[in-house]
Amino acid sequence: MSDFEDEMDIDVQPSKDAIQFSSDKSSGKTKRLTADLPVEAEDNLPWVEKYRPNTLEDVSGHQDILATINKFVDANRLPHLLLYGPPGTGKTSTVLALARRIYGAQNMRQMVLELNASDDRGIDVVREQIKTFASTKQIFSMAPSNTGGSALGKFKLIVLDEADAMTSTAQMALRRIMERYTANTRFCIIANYTHKLSPALLSRCTRFRFSPLKEADIRSLIDHVIEKEQVLIQPEAVDSLVTLSKGDMRRSLNVLQACHASTAPHPSDIQEIMATLLSTSDVTSCLNTVNTLKSTKGLALADILAALSDQLQRLTVPAQTRITWLEGLAEIEFRLAGGGSEALQTGGLVGVLRNGCELMGENDTPMAP
Ligand SMILES: Nc1ncnc2c1ncn2[C@@H]1O[C@H](COP(=O)(O)OP(=O)(O)O)[C@@H](O)[C@H]1O
Ligand SMILES: [Mg+2]
Repeated sequence: MSDFEDEMDIDVQPSKDAIQFSSDKSSGKTKRLTADLPVEAEDNLPWVEKYRPNTLEDVSGHQDILATINKFVDANRLPHLLLYGPPGTGKTSTVLALARRIYGAQNMRQMVLELNASDDRGIDVVREQIKTFASTKQIFSMAPSNTGGSALGKFKLIVLDEADAMTSTAQMALRRIMERYTANTRFCIIANYTHKLSPALLSRCTRFRFSPLKEADIRSLIDHVIEKEQVLIQPEAVDSLVTLSKGDMRRSLNVLQACHASTAPHPSDIQEIMATLLSTSDVTSCLNTVNTLKSTKGLALADILAALSDQLQRLTVPAQTRITWLEGLAEIEFRLAGGGSEALQTGGLVGVLRNGCELMGENDTPMAP
């Protein structure tokens, strides 16, 4: 409905176009895809990509910016845009969602040139790639079924991500190009800091500042991901995650995924291994317990060593025992890193711990601090 109203006070567009125009949303039933990744690849995607907002409505926070951008699109009038602000606040996502809204998911490829200025920042890139892309005529706007012939669909979009990393010469060249091709292209410049951009560029763009995301926004996104991915996490850990991310959604998603994927042994498994090794004098049964735990929980000896040595430090034991353990564990770690067999070194671990225990004698039981 709002499309319709905005349409009226501008010009020529018949309302039919407006309806078709906003139908991108329903036609894009490939939910939350990033660029053009095949659906089956989604499961292996990093969460920052998997949960990248698909439409402008999915972008959290920044309500005022989104409203303005939507207005531009509804009015079929898009100025050059400059989005700036700290990382992980949704700048790239907003532009991609905008492009998807204008062209639809299928046509995005042909109509959007996405350059990451931090890898290709020389003058050559600006001259060649942008020039070639901006000066070629698009064939697709002639096809009848696309975007309903919306006026914006005729413009190509050039996205310059991380443009503040461009050399100043390249920025100069860009200025001319922007002017020359304004008839059929729109630029969208993304940067962290405006002070690294040439004032001439700044004055040609409509600026939007993306502030760090609010904790409430981050929390609701994180909660969503936790639920979808079935992450086991304590409420206090979520609190820290939200606070420590300091408004950077990318960081909080990456930390969450790293914690989720971490294969570090669970403290209770380490406790069980330690208790068995310290109390059972039958070496074979010790070895069996450790091997069973390793295979059922998928633990690696290297991780067990690290966690176990940490735990052993905390026990109060005679010096001789401690020396045996420390030397032995260090030796095993060294051999393991050098390619020693996992099975033999596991045996070595049992041997070292039992050795230390034998030294303690009958009545010296190890004590927790
Ligand atoms: N405003 C937001 N709403 C929803 N998700 C966001 C938002 N900002 C960032 N994200 C998440 O963080 C990731 C990185 O966002 P991105 O748009 O690339 O940030 P920027 O370009 O500002 O550094 C996205 O894939 C998305 O998962
Ligand atoms: Mg970005």
